[in-house]
Amino acid sequence: MILSPSLLSSDFGRLTEELAALEAAGVKWVHWDVMDGRFVPNITYGQPVISHLRKKSGLFFDVHLMVHEPERYLADFAKAGADMLVVHAEATNHLQRTLAEIRRLGCKAGVALNPHTPLSVLDYVLEDVDMVLIMSVNPGFGGQKFLPATYRKIRDLRAMLDARGLSAHIQVDGGVDPSNTAALVESGADVLVSGSAFFGFPPYDQRLRAFEDAAAA
Ligand code: DX5
Ligand code: ZN
Repeated sequence: MILSPSLLSSDFGRLTEELAALEAAGVKWVHWDVMDGRFVPNITYGQPVISHLRKKSGLFFDVHLMVHEPERYLADFAKAGADMLVVHAEATNHLQRTLAEIRRLGCKAGVALNPHTPLSVLDYVLEDVDMVLIMSVNPGFGGQKFLPATYRKIRDLRAMLDARGLSAHIQVDGGVDPSNTAALVESGADVLVSGSAFFGFPPYDQRLRAFEDAAAA
């Protein structure tokens, strides 16, 4: 299990220190929630902030684009130093082209699905992705309640990947905490995002261990 803490719940006034603290705690990935005020109601940060922090951190930058028409900004985010770019299937008209473009830019390609979006949208693009992000809340805000329908969606996706011999990651985002970690991993998820349930419980090394222990249980 890989834990990707969501910076949405971190202290935005101390992002350099927060990234350093994550790295010191043994975290490997960090999740950036980019929101445009259109695809989702909220606005966060964009490529200039990521580019600035890229110079200060060796973490794997997992960039979740909650942005309408993400294809317009892929080159900017690749240049800013994203390692993985995750676009929403609901936000782009030509999903296959958008995913192929991410790989062409040298990044790992991810696709995110809102809670109501069926797995069938992935049917003809599954070979084009390095990760599928299953949203377990409606995107836009941290601290929301986990939607239990997510478990069956993860299991169904794991079966789809296995049937085709594919090894894409399955990431879950929204309302994840140590109490549902075991069930998520058992369902087939291997990358968990946590915002409020991670940053609200320092020290970070102990909190990382709480998630890891739960995943191993
Ligand atoms: C929600 C974001 C999440 C969010 C998760 O729109 O995509 O990454 O930060 O926050 P928690 O873990 O608090 O639900
Ligand atoms: Zn996210």
